[in-house]
Amino acid sequence: MEIIVQPTAEDANLIAARILAETVREKPHAVLGFATGATPLRLYEHLARLHREEGLSFRRVTAFNLDEFVGLDPSHPGSFHRYMEEHLLRHLDLPAERLHVPDGRAGNIPLYCRKYEEMIKSTGGIDIQVLGIGRNGHIGFNEPSSSLASRTRIKALTRQTRRGLAELFGGEDNVPAHVITMGLGTILDSRLALLLAFGSHKAEAVAAAAEGPVTASLPASVLQMHPRAVCVLDQEAAVALKHIDYYDWAYRNKPDWQRY
Ligand code: F6R
Repeated sequence: MEIIVQPTAEDANLIAARILAETVREKPHAVLGFATGATPLRLYEHLARLHREEGLSFRRVTAFNLDEFVGLDPSHPGSFHRYMEEHLLRHLDLPAERLHVPDGRAGNIPLYCRKYEEMIKSTGGIDIQVLGIGRNGHIGFNEPSSSLASRTRIKALTRQTRRGLAELFGGEDNVPAHVITMGLGTILDSRLALLLAFGSHKAEAVAAAAEGPVTASLPASVLQMHPRAVCVLDQEAAVALKHIDYYDWAYRNKPDWQRY
């Protein structure tokens, strides 16, 4: 795992935006994996800016989202369909029919999940998967205990995660109990996993994911098994890392052609 620590979240977001933009420029039909939540909001603003000001085109890109709430109408303000529409789709030239967000209203969920996996495979696989991390170490909504080999499936949210989402739904009791989420195995198949984390409230989970044992109890730790995982952090999210001096040194001494 490559760990890049930046002075501020804005510096980290600029690096993440450069990684995505470079991929889309080199491979206009790239397949991108998107996350929702607070973490990638600024990254998405940068993508919109690059589209507006530099003509970065997403016309041929295909995208897959990590997750969606079961039973939720796409027009619900808490749905990730709505999030993607507001924060990304309306600002880019990405065709709506090529942005895939799991359908929380699917009738036969196991069948739907298998089809979601097949759809990802049929596009050639995800080139870059953007990820945030939960305080409990979840990525996607792979809550602690998720199989490290899991594929897209239904998953029950933990109480902690539902509490964290309460505001979006006007109270914890209104947060759907279940989600459809890509699995950890699905995420491991991406060519590059780009994990972003900002703020001291993420520091413990980040340190456990990067430097702790690989365990289903801390699902993001599976990224240690990913052939190319890049973790871009601000200072606060990095405070609990033991080897921060080494990560800094390695990044500063990276050959120019490998820099983001
Ligand atoms: C959202 C997702 C989650 C979030 C995580 C962090 O699609 O997959 O794993 O990335 O819960 O959420 P924020 O960014 O709101 O702290």
